[in-house]
Amino acid sequence: MDGNGRWAKARRLPRVAGHRAGVEAVRRVVEAAPDLGIEVLTLYAFSSENWKRPADEVSDLMGLLNHYIRSEVKDLHKNGVRLDFIGDWKALKPDLVKLLEDARTLTAGNEKLVLIMALNYGGQDEMVRAARALAAEAVAGTLDPAAITIDTLADRLDTAGLPPPDLVLRTSGEMRLSNFLLWQSAYAEFVATDTLWPDFDRAALAGAVAEFATRERRFGGR
Ligand code: FPP
Repeated sequence: MDGNGRWAKARRLPRVAGHRAGVEAVRRVVEAAPDLGIEVLTLYAFSSENWKRPADEVSDLMGLLNHYIRSEVKDLHKNGVRLDFIGDWKALKPDLVKLLEDARTLTAGNEKLVLIMALNYGGQDEMVRAARALAAEAVAGTLDPAAITIDTLADRLDTAGLPPPDLVLRTSGEMRLSNFLLWQSAYAEFVATDTLWPDFDRAALAGAVAEFATRERRFGGR
């Protein structure tokens, strides 16, 4: 969800105003996604590298996340959204972790849209944690290293049980993956738009889905 800072700067506003406008874009996109046939939507809200930002910006982002969950969870539940999280989110502050756990429990049975928030997430960190889990099982004697397959590893990732993404969408003209779903994006279609995240809306999402629909997908075959 890139471009919040630039959106704010263009308006001579503090960065937090860009992040606040970014939350409005989250609302619009979550509402539009099921209408466009999207079943799973993953939002990269806070990366394991975002801790490098100044403490007040980190605190603003955590505050916005806290506020978003508190104010939206009832509506999300009413609208059939299942909320879940990937990343090392359990290492966040205990009161936030409790809020996230409660939101997850409340919405666990919903099926209209799976909304995944990547929190304290990094694709490399996720793979390291999966490697540790596999190593621990091997040491315990419950897993034969020679029997490890692509599926064995995929089952230890935070996204276990979820389909790999069909489309990875990047806003604000960036052309990097930035440590997002590195393993899972192996055959994802990449769409980049110059739109800054706070300006993103239903029409922009529909445009990205339309671009996706023009792609021929071969998954390495012919
Ligand atoms: C990147 O833009 C954006 C982030 C690091 C945070 C994204 C967070 C939100 C949209 C709000 C909180 C999330 C939820 C789900 C409630 P940037 O700051 O790097 O912008 P720039 O590249 O223009 O500087």
